[in-house]
Order: sequence, then structure tokens, then C-alpha cells
Amino acid sequence: MPAVTNRGLENVVVAESKKSKVEGLEGRLSYSGFPIEDLAGHATFEEVIWLLWEGELPTRGELAIITSALAAEREIPDAVHGVLRALPADTHPMTALRTGVSALGAFDPDAELAPDDEAARRRALLRIVARIPTITAVFERVRKDKSPIPPRDDLGHSANMLFMLNGTEAGPAAVRALDTYLVLLADHGFNASTFSARVTAATKSDPYSAITSAIGTLKGPLHGGANERVMEMLESIGSVDAAEAWVLDKIEKKERIMGIGHRVYKTTDPRAAILRRMSEAQAEESGDRLYHDIALAVADTAVDFFAKNRPELMLYPNVDFYSAAVLHAAGVPSDQFTPLFAVSRVAGWTAHLLEQYADNRLIRPRAEYTGPTNRPFVSIDAR
Ligand code: COA
Repeated sequence: MPAVTNRGLENVVVAESKKSKVEGLEGRLSYSGFPIEDLAGHATFEEVIWLLWEGELPTRGELAIITSALAAEREIPDAVHGVLRALPADTHPMTALRTGVSALGAFDPDAELAPDDEAARRRALLRIVARIPTITAVFERVRKDKSPIPPRDDLGHSANMLFMLNGTEAGPAAVRALDTYLVLLADHGFNASTFSARVTAATKSDPYSAITSAIGTLKGPLHGGANERVMEMLESIGSVDAAEAWVLDKIEKKERIMGIGHRVYKTTDPRAAILRRMSEAQAEESGDRLYHDIALAVADTAVDFFAKNRPELMLYPNVDFYSAAVLHAAGVPSDQFTPLFAVSRVAGWTAHLLEQYADNRLIRPRAEYTGPTNRPFVSIDAR
């Protein structure tokens, strides 16, 4: 019988990983030893993909290799376009992404080889990283009755993503903002979606199955889906003056304030601090401060309330809290916030899959059975 029942696996360490270090009490995050503050705004997303995969920052030559390898793999098969077109226009974009990635697996000859063949595994994982932006952008276009815009191989990952969404080249500020966002969310220890990916891979299933599991897990509002719910909250509050009463009413009703709280961080999430500054800069530049200011008012009220009344909970804004205002200001529709999170986190998912396949053991915890025991069977006629 298991000695400990730990609902939610809190603080349970199930593997070693060299990818990212999350220090919850100190509010620190680093990728392979590099603090997130030094990477965000300074390293490109492609550099961070290389870092997470290889454990070292790339040289110029290595960066050129990963950049062109990703660019060469962006196209998705016509049949996957067909799958995305076949979905109802009101399908949630995370459902479309999950379906698209699952369908992609059927067209990749490396998919079934990947668990046992490292070269095939790396090819498949690179394709997944390169094609998640394409699936996201294609579905965004087709659900609005617009033609998909083919990817360009002469643009970086973020610039190409914006090009596929809008059909025009984005300016350097927009590209930098998206790239910084992608760097910030690229990996985060054994978060729920990464864990899902690793659980699936640990059965020696293929990488497309593992990433499909991860996307399904990221979608939930307690994980990546929180960013969309934060935007709904900011919109429903509507004005800075209404924020305090709205938050206190939710707390009174024992409802959760989305974008607040974290399983590991018991202080400010370092990514939230950076996103808050990004949001502030966007508000300054555009002159449109509404959602930024509502977000500040919500955070102040919630943090203050919990610090005074439930200090043991240690609730602070998490990464999804300021993501909402940042992505909204960048013109991203709110139901595409979580797919954009996936565009980033797939860097970490794939890095963790490399670790998992290379040193695999089935992940299989136990449940403590608490139902009835030793019951005499009664045939259906006698019930
Ligand atoms: N608003 C209000 N109360 C919250 C809260 C929030 N956002 N987050 C946690 N709490 C409270 C719970 O109600 C619970 O209170 P109780 O002891 O009175 O029952 C307590 O804190 C512990 O909650 P629990 O769900 O056990 O903590 P957890 O470690 O599992 O929670 C989250 C982590 C992220 C799931 C949780 O903070 C949450 O739901 N946040 C909102 C969703 C979100 O932003 N998710 C994105 C995370 S990056």
C-alpha cells in the first residue's frame, strides 16, 4: 500500500532534468543555468530552442543550422489543411491545434521510428516545433473564411508566425514582443503539460502522441487556458473603477481569480514581472491603457486581500496574468492566446521528450483504493 497519498503530486520529484530550474520561494527561473531575465529580450526563440535541446547557447553557425532547419519544415501536408478546413468555424483553436498535430503524425514517416531511433526522433520533434505555428495560423485564417498564407523560409520563427497570421510583414517591435513572449514561456520544469508529454513518451509511444497529450493538458483553465480566462475577466470588469469590487465579490463567492496563484511559485512569478513591464511599455506606446490598468487594479486588490486574510496561500500573479494584456495589445484574438503558449512551450515539451526517450522508465504512480472490498457477486437476475 502506498505510504503517502499526495493529491496533485505536489512537491513530488519524479525525474531528473537539465532543462529548466524553477525556484518557487525565490521567484527564480533559469533555462540550463541562464536566468530568464538574461534570455528574455536578449536571446531569440531559436537560440532558446537550441539551448533547451542541447544544453548550451548556440554559436552563430549552430544558430544558422537550427534557424534554417526550422524554416525548411514549416509547410504542413495538404491533407492536414483539409482536416483543419473540415472543422466547424467555432471549434476552439486549442482543439484545432490538438487535432492538427495528431493528424500531422500520420504523415511523418519518422513518427513510429522515433521512440527507438534518435535521428528519426530529432527529425520528428523539429517538424513539430516548426509546424505548430503553421497549424495555428492556418486555422486562424480558415475559420475566418480567409485563405491560409504559406509560410516564408526567409523569416525567423516569430516574424513568420506573424506573417502567416496577417499576410504582411510585422514591424521589428511586434516581432521582438512575440519573440520575447515565446522565450519567456518556453519551458517550466515539470508543469502539467510537460508531465503529460513525458508520461505518454514513457510508454514508448510516438512524439506526436506525446505532444497531442501535452496540448490537451495545456488547454485547461488551471494551466495554459488561464490566459484566455484572464482576458475574459478584464473585459467583463470593463473599467479600472469596477476592478476592486469585482475581485472582492469573486473571492466572497469562493471563485478563483484567473492568472493568480501557482503550484510552485509562492512569490511573484519572474515571468509575470517581465510581462508586466512589457504590458506597461505597450500601454505607454499605444496610449491605450485600459486593460493594462484594469490588470494592475485586479492584481493589487487580490494580492492585498490574500496577504491580509490568507497569507498562508501566498497568491501572486502568474505568467498568464499579464500575458493577456500583452497579447491583446499585440492584436491576438483571446482564444488564440493558449495556442500561442503552445507555440512557445513546444520548445520545452520537445526538449523534455529528448530527455525522456534517452533515459526512459514507465511513469506509473498508484492510487489508494478506497472503494468497497470483498463483495459477493450477485447475478443480474437477483439484483
Ligand atoms: N483565486 C482564489 N483562490 C485561489 C486561487 C485563485 N486564483 N488559487 C488558489 N486559491 C486558493 C484555493 O481556493 C485554495 O483555498 P482553500 O485552502 O480555501 O481551499 C488554496 O488557494 C489552494 O488551492 P489549490 O488549488 O490546492 O492550489 P494549487 O497549488 O493546486 O493551485 C493553481 C495552483 C494554479 C491551479 C491555482 O492557483 C489556480 O487555480 N489559479 C488560477 C488559474 C491560473 O491562473 N492558472 C495558471 C497557472 S500558471
